[in-house]
Amino acid sequence: LSDIGNDLESVLLSEQQLNDRLAEMAAQIDEDYKGQDLLLVGVLKGAVMVMADLARRLHHPAEMDWMAVSSYGSGTKSSGVVRILKDLDADLTGRNVLIVEDIVDSGLTLSWLLSNLRSRGPKSVEIAAMLRKPEAVKVDLDVRYVGFDIPNQFVVGYGLDYAEKYRNLPFVGTLAPHVYES
Ligand code: PRP
Ligand code: MN
Ligand code: MG
Repeated sequence: LSDIGNDLESVLLSEQQLNDRLAEMAAQIDEDYKGQDLLLVGVLKGAVMVMADLARRLHHPAEMDWMAVSSYGSGTKSSGVVRILKDLDADLTGRNVLIVEDIVDSGLTLSWLLSNLRSRGPKSVEIAAMLRKPEAVKVDLDVRYVGFDIPNQFVVGYGLDYAEKYRNLPFVGTLAPHVYES
């Protein structure tokens, strides 16, 4: 197996850039939910990195729960077909829910998730996403906390995969063409 670095073309967002922005997002979330209940809902598997890094920067005693949904399959395009692979443990009745996601691409996953979670009787449901592709969004979606708006290119790292790989990169980058071609 070759080193993961050999498969990369460029670094779009460095670890430092991600960390700086996460600190700002956490401060804003602390302020907005001060003295209130807060349940963070991480969307597996992509949100693992941002959930861990955002949650540990909060001063708020937030709870963490996880849901696994999938829309991409193993390719690079969103299908719009969302499947629940693992549901939440928590009852959302009366809760302030903050969905934590790695990326809003077409927005189809989050749009579906929002209506699903809203039907469970929460007090509020908001979204925090580390990345958003404004040119790719197909639905009207109100994302309360956005890390970075990025160009409409296929990116990996910091939770984002290509065929389940590259999630473990500590930064966001683009893949070298040979990775797709092989
Ligand atoms: C990816 C990503 C988001 C979603 C965004 O998840 O992590 O959850 O797609 O795409 P959309 O805005 O076009 O719906 P994926 O379904 O690949 O599952 P994963 O998190 O396990 O990689
Ligand atoms: Mn995902
Ligand atoms: Mg994926």
